[in-house]
Amino acid sequence: MATTAVAPQVAPRLAQPHLTLQTLPIGADTLAIRSQDWDRDRFDIEFALENGTTYNSFLIRGEKVALIDTSHEKFRQLYLDCLQGILDPAQIDYLVVSHTEPDHSGLVGDLLELAPQMTVVASKVAVQFLEDLVHRPFQRLVVKQGDRLDLGKGHVLEFISAPNLHWPDTILTYDHGTQILYTCDVFGMHYCDDFAWDEHPHLLQADFKLYYDCLMGPNARSVLSALKRMEALPPIAAIATGHGPLLRHHLSDWVEHYRTWSLEQAKAERMVAVFYLSGYGKAEALAQAIARGIQKTGIQVELADLRLVDAHEVRELMSLAAGVVIGMPPQSGPEAATTQVLLKTLLASAHSKQGFGLFESGGEDDESVYLCRNTLQEIGAKEVFAPILLKQPAGEALLQLAEEAGTDLGQWLTRDRSIQQMKALDADLDRALGRISNGLYIITARKGQATSAMLASWVAQASADPPGISIAVAKDRAIESFLQVGDTFVLNVLQEGHYQPLMRHFLKRFPPGADRFAGIKTYPAANGSPILADALAYLECRVVSRLETSDHWVVYSTLEAGRVSSPEGLTAIHHRKVGNHY
Ligand code: FEO
Repeated sequence: MATTAVAPQVAPRLAQPHLTLQTLPIGADTLAIRSQDWDRDRFDIEFALENGTTYNSFLIRGEKVALIDTSHEKFRQLYLDCLQGILDPAQIDYLVVSHTEPDHSGLVGDLLELAPQMTVVASKVAVQFLEDLVHRPFQRLVVKQGDRLDLGKGHVLEFISAPNLHWPDTILTYDHGTQILYTCDVFGMHYCDDFAWDEHPHLLQADFKLYYDCLMGPNARSVLSALKRMEALPPIAAIATGHGPLLRHHLSDWVEHYRTWSLEQAKAERMVAVFYLSGYGKAEALAQAIARGIQKTGIQVELADLRLVDAHEVRELMSLAAGVVIGMPPQSGPEAATTQVLLKTLLASAHSKQGFGLFESGGEDDESVYLCRNTLQEIGAKEVFAPILLKQPAGEALLQLAEEAGTDLGQWLTRDRSIQQMKALDADLDRALGRISNGLYIITARKGQATSAMLASWVAQASADPPGISIAVAKDRAIESFLQVGDTFVLNVLQEGHYQPLMRHFLKRFPPGADRFAGIKTYPAANGSPILADALAYLECRVVSRLETSDHWVVYSTLEAGRVSSPEGLTAIHHRKVGNHY
């Protein structure tokens, strides 16, 4: 690949100190425009963003000029000024829209104002979405797998269809001239830095994996199909992603990670099919949150967009699924005729061994969850979580509820496995392991409006300078989502002789979204998490790293503050007989 070694130009942080733009050449006639969002703390709703994010856009100047993706609307002024400083928008011939989520397409309307002559190049589904998004006529070129577009000067663009990665409308674009593959969300990560490339993979690994888990993991089969299509391309010299650093130094590692993780997902023995209609209400966000909750239990998820599947695929998924989740589609509107048929097919394919959960999508006119629920119950399927209704809390709290509902469904499907695992341990070893004793603690955490808490015992000091602790948290615990690298929480130490009421309260099985702190006296720590007023001591913690074991995350955190309320008090100790449970 021809690259020009020019130092990246970083625009000074002017009016908005946390938004900057970086432009750099990445290949012949090719410029990256990276919108750097340094401290965005929450992306969509999916996951914490301790390292900010970037929205990457690319300009290819052959004889024809193509722009690949735009930016988030928060960069409107910065991005449009920057672009107009590079060229007159009237020179842009094509705008390739890799997919239509607003973080990349938020400025398509603005750009069409400046460059009404340009042709929007996108998948058929993306063009349909864009019509609703930009509310103005535009020239379009619908592309499908294998289509090519010659920009001149050797820049022949070839399009790869990648539905469900992670939106239904996604395409990838390969430039035969520079051998750069433009992938938008795929292979991305939420990571903001002036390093435009992946020179330092150890800094990126955790964010790359979290991003895969949240956005790509639920579509593992689609990831494998897209990888197969990529294999048919000539050599790929670099992957230009839509978020985070561009990839060229460790290309085969990044691609191999996607393959390995997706193969692992695809071979999981049980699967839950999650049906929803993209672009309708909050269906997509809720489906993803539920999927993430299910995956925490090691159960595979297949996200099925009713916009993309046909009756045959619905029947096939239902025949394979041990569980089913349905986001209510609309009763009226342009999609209703299709989705009603698919919903009927889906219900007719359900059977009595399946567990199910339903959620309202919160569009204009959802089908009734109750009619759907009656049908499934009559078949004998087991309702594992109560219908998620949109009159329930909004924002982060609603997504937390959805994730916890997903985890409940996953745990219901793995209930036999957990019992078998307990029985499988050698009895002598089990008793010996049980002689390892720990204290009793309550972990409490807050993220925005969402809070969580968990009784913990596998806690140990792990470093002295800086002071740090490790906590082993089962992968399927709700609080696991609050313990990502960079997150903060409080470790409350329970007191010998006084711990029973708190222990009993936090040992209860809470329904999804339930307030763990109802009836419990708390006050906020400096990091925002609740301190239990009746605890012997508390420590304010920040997660630094996580080690994955077969069934737990070992979370290492450094300590930022702490206090003992009763200097004479002793820590409650948890003595066990066996090691196969807490
Ligand atoms: Fe980065 Fe799916 O948008």
